[in-house]
Amino acid sequence: MTDQGFTADEIDTSRPHPARMYNYYLGGKDNYEVDREAAQRVIDLAPELVPMARANRAFMHRAVRLLVESGVRQIIDIGTGIPTSPNTHQVAHELSPDVRVAYVDNDPIVATHAGAHLLGTGNTGFLLGDLRDPQSILNHPTIGELIDLDQPVGLMLMAILHFVQDDEDPAGLVAAYLDALPAGSHLVLTHSTTDFHRSDPNWSQARDVYRDRRATAALTLRPYEQVLGLFGDLELLEPGLVQAPLWRPDGPAPTAEELSHIGFYGGVGYKR
Ligand SMILES: C[S@@+](CC[C@H](N)C(=O)[O-])C[C@H]1O[C@@H](n2cnc3c(N)ncnc32)[C@H](O)[C@@H]1O
Repeated sequence: MTDQGFTADEIDTSRPHPARMYNYYLGGKDNYEVDREAAQRVIDLAPELVPMARANRAFMHRAVRLLVESGVRQIIDIGTGIPTSPNTHQVAHELSPDVRVAYVDNDPIVATHAGAHLLGTGNTGFLLGDLRDPQSILNHPTIGELIDLDQPVGLMLMAILHFVQDDEDPAGLVAAYLDALPAGSHLVLTHSTTDFHRSDPNWSQARDVYRDRRATAALTLRPYEQVLGLFGDLELLEPGLVQAPLWRPDGPAPTAEELSHIGFYGGVGYKR
């Protein structure tokens, strides 16, 4: 039994896992042969996955800075992934060390790494939980310790909702979390899409790797309107829902050539 309360048997290394595949895209070492093989097959079919993963992380940095600059002092980051420096709390703490961050993921491997990298500062915590069960996350003791649900919260759903199938009602799940959060809360969301690769057969083959190799979660890429619908009645902050590198870029705007590879939307919504 680990300190996260699960046994090593629960870590399934016989099938590729999205968190470990993503870790491979980002050049990490926290993955197994089965993950590397599936992830490399995806990269061979769709090499843009690597700049996409980087663009997603860069968006996270900019969005977290916006949350903290807007006065948010508590963040729930669901589907946080295997820790990749800098993580949400490190970005937030550069601006304000008092920000509290509750990390959530449903992967025991992520939990194992979280123990080493995401905890220990006194104002970060990790819980093993499933996005598709909002009440078990919102009522979890770790959330109770770190997050005051009467104060504005930054809810981060970064590159996770494409692992929720249509029949699992992703928009309804997002709404369930937002209903529990007060005015002044923010939703930070990224989601992958085929909008920029409609005619590329490699993309559907790459998606099939997640399906065929029975990666533990299948991928549902969504078009712009469906991703926009996930924000419900939140107010979208400028510049709205856009390809991730176009969202408040730090430096010069990305070129059309760079953007042509980025099948990731990103946006931040505000609850009035
Ligand atoms: C592509 S990674 C994204 C990591 C990080 N949020 C980022 O954007 O860089 C997706 C993460 O979501 C987690 N995940 C997938 N489905 C989930 C679910 N239903 N509940 C909680 N976590 C989930 C995976 O285990 C993985 O760690």
